[in-house]
Amino acid sequence: MNTEKISKKIILSGIQASGDLTIGHYAGAMKNWVQLQDDYECYFMVADMHAITTRQVPADLRRRSVDVVAMYAACGINTDQSTLFIQSHVPEHAQLAWVLNCFTGFGEAQRMTQFKDKSQQHSENVNVGLFSYPVLMAADILLYQADLVPVGEDQKQHIELTRNLAERFNHLYSPTFAVPDPFIPKEGARIMSLQEPRKKMSKSDPNQNSCIFLHDADAVIKNKIKRAVTDSGTDIIYDTEQRPGISNLMSLYHVATGKSMQEISDEFNGRGYAPFKEAVAEAVAELISPIRNRFEEIRSNPDELSALLKSGADKARRQAFKTLRKVYKKVGFVEPS
Ligand code: TYM
Repeated sequence: MNTEKISKKIILSGIQASGDLTIGHYAGAMKNWVQLQDDYECYFMVADMHAITTRQVPADLRRRSVDVVAMYAACGINTDQSTLFIQSHVPEHAQLAWVLNCFTGFGEAQRMTQFKDKSQQHSENVNVGLFSYPVLMAADILLYQADLVPVGEDQKQHIELTRNLAERFNHLYSPTFAVPDPFIPKEGARIMSLQEPRKKMSKSDPNQNSCIFLHDADAVIKNKIKRAVTDSGTDIIYDTEQRPGISNLMSLYHVATGKSMQEISDEFNGRGYAPFKEAVAEAVAELISPIRNRFEEIRSNPDELSALLKSGADKARRQAFKTLRKVYKKVGFVEPS
């Protein structure tokens, strides 16, 4: 009898704890985590260390870090099966990030578009952490020997950097890291603002009508969708260049119902925007309503959440330590006696 255990491939992904979660996070990340979770060994973390690259109110960061974990569970992550943890509970992330910083070119980090965007958005606080943010993200991924990283479109460049760092290190020393592939959904990888559909939907957008939060009440969701900016004309055809507003609503409808763009077009084209908006509003409210209710239930049980986070951090640390130890040895650090 073959008793050898066939191990599953590994996923790591995470979300920053810098604001309340939106339907963009759901579409680009959590929805896909739920779909992939049975076929992979999964690590899902809360990136609280990434969050402090912009100023945070400490009490809010603390609350939100736990909110994010509760939201993972509310969206359907099986907490018995996947490992959920908070990044700062596993010190190996910062330790590996330091080593990787020493293998990252200054120009390489400077080319990251998210760094350029965020330095403009937070021009009063362009700190070194913001600059080396993608290196910490690479450490998050490489510590767990992740094969696959399910993310939205905006994180693609960071995964490319992660792959380059892994290959560089493996080549300079010997195979140490798995080289991860991104998993970016075909639809929903970039949910746009409801008010400015050429801009990504973002939790930090000052215009609250631009963004659907996973805690929004049904009436709020419906109202935001009703007010969403559409394009001139009446066609319901997916074309992000010519019809960014309606295409975004089509993406939301796809995320909520699973229908393809063609099916949506066949169903609604020729009937005008109003009935389509109505249908999108209903479908999105129907998607979010059970998530919101489960979130409230899970969040009202802090003891269970902290037990979950403790066992998650213990398991994550065991794996992270194994990788870090190899790295330290390879770069020439003396093992503590
Ligand atoms: P963050 O926190 O900005 O976003 C978390 C995930 O949600 C996706 N996302 C979206 N997808 C589609 N449309 C949107 N409007 C939208 N907004 C957000 C993001 O693409 C991402 O997948 N650096 C990461 C967090 C991180 C991480 C990691 C991710 C830290 N370490 C390791 C993967 C692996 C970030 O800031 O994502």
